[in-house]
Amino acid sequence: MNKTQTITGYIQDIDSNEPFLVCGDSFELLSKLPSCTVDCIITSPPYWGHRLYSGGGIGLENTYSEYIKNLLKITNELYRVLKPTGSFWLNIGDTYRNKKLQGIPWRVAISLLDKQNWILRNSVIWNKHKGGLDSSKDKLRNMHENIFHFVKDEKNYFYDTSKIRSDARKSIVKNGSVISATGVSGIRYKRQIELSTSLNVVEKICALDALNGVLEKIKKGEIADFRMIIRGQQRATHSESEKVSGRAKELNQKGFYFLFYHPDGTLPGDVWEIIPEDTQKRKNHYAVYPEDLCKIPILATCPKNGIVLDPFSGSGTTCLVAYKHNRKSIGLDISTEYIEFSKERINEYKHENCGVLQLFDQE
Ligand SMILES: C[S@@+](CC[C@H](N)C(=O)[O-])C[C@H]1O[C@@H](n2cnc3c(N)ncnc32)[C@H](O)[C@@H]1O
Repeated sequence: MNKTQTITGYIQDIDSNEPFLVCGDSFELLSKLPSCTVDCIITSPPYWGHRLYSGGGIGLENTYSEYIKNLLKITNELYRVLKPTGSFWLNIGDTYRNKKLQGIPWRVAISLLDKQNWILRNSVIWNKHKGGLDSSKDKLRNMHENIFHFVKDEKNYFYDTSKIRSDARKSIVKNGSVISATGVSGIRYKRQIELSTSLNVVEKICALDALNGVLEKIKKGEIADFRMIIRGQQRATHSESEKVSGRAKELNQKGFYFLFYHPDGTLPGDVWEIIPEDTQKRKNHYAVYPEDLCKIPILATCPKNGIVLDPFSGSGTTCLVAYKHNRKSIGLDISTEYIEFSKERINEYKHENCGVLQLFDQE
C-alpha cells in the first residue's frame, strides 16, 4: 500500500490488490468515498453493549434505539457507496439486558428494509458449535449469530454460484446399468411404475419413457442426480395442493415428475457451520470473526476485479481474505491499534508466502 494514496486513488489503481487500511470514524471516512464504487461489503459492527474496544466508537449507546440509529447512519452511507450490482453482508449478534434477549439482529435488519430500501436475500445462521462460558440455569447456551445478505437491486446483483457450489459427485455405470451420484439406478422406480395401481397404462408407458430418457442423460454426464416422484408412491415435494404447487398439478395430471440436481454440485445452505477464530489473535482484538465467514460472500458476490469494503475492519480479517482471493479491499477502523495490527497481519501473510502471494482465485 502506498502511504500517500487516498481511498479514491486506491480504487483507481488497477495494479495493486494489497488492502487499503485507514484509521478513523467510518461515517466520516465513507463520506469521502464516491458513490457506487464498491462491489461487496462484509462487516461485523460492534454488538450493542458487549464490550469496550480500544478506540471507542459505536456499541456503547444507552439504548438499543440509539445504537440502531447510529448504525443506520453508517449503513445509509454504505448504500450510497455500494454499486447497484453490489452486496452487503452484515454479521451481528444479540444482547441480553436484565435477562431479556433484545432481538437486535432482526431489529437492525427490519430497519434496513423499512427505512433504507435494502433488499434482504438471505438470513444466514452462523452455527459456532461452541458458545462462550455461560453459567445460567434458566436458559439455553447461545451458539449462533446472524449474517444477513442485502442487495440494492433484486434482479441485477452480481452472484456467481459456480464459485461456491460443492464439487458434484458423478454418476457411474455398474454392471451395464447407470447409477446416479447418490446411488439411484432407476430399477426401483421402474418397478414402482410397473406395479403402480395409481397410474393407468398410458401413464405407465410415458413414465417409463421419461425415466429412460433421464437415465440416458445421466450416462452422458448431463445430469449428476435426480429424484422421481410417482403418483401414489412419493409425496409432492412442497404441497399436495394444486393451488399451492405446480408440481402437485403435474403429478395429478401426468402421474409423475422429476427433480434434477445441478450437475456442478449443490449450493451451500443458509446455516454455516464455522468454528470461531482461534484464541491466538484475541491478544490484540476481542471480536475477530473467522476467515471462513468471508469466503462465500467474497467468492459469490465480488467479481474478480471488484473491491471489498469493511467499515468496521477490526483485526483486518475481511481484507486478508479479500487479498487471499485476489480482490482489492478497503478496511476502516476507529482504532489505531487495530489498524496497525491488521497491517502486521497482512504483512505476516505476505512474508509467510515469501513475498509471493498465494492467491486462491486466479482465473
Ligand atoms: C466486531 S469488531 C470487528 C472485528 C472484525 N470483523 C475482525 O475480524 O477483526 C468491530 C470494530 O468496529 C470498530 N469501530 C467501532 N465504531 C467504529 C466507527 N464509528 N468507525 C470505525 N470503526 C469503528 C471497533 O474498533 C472494532 O474494531
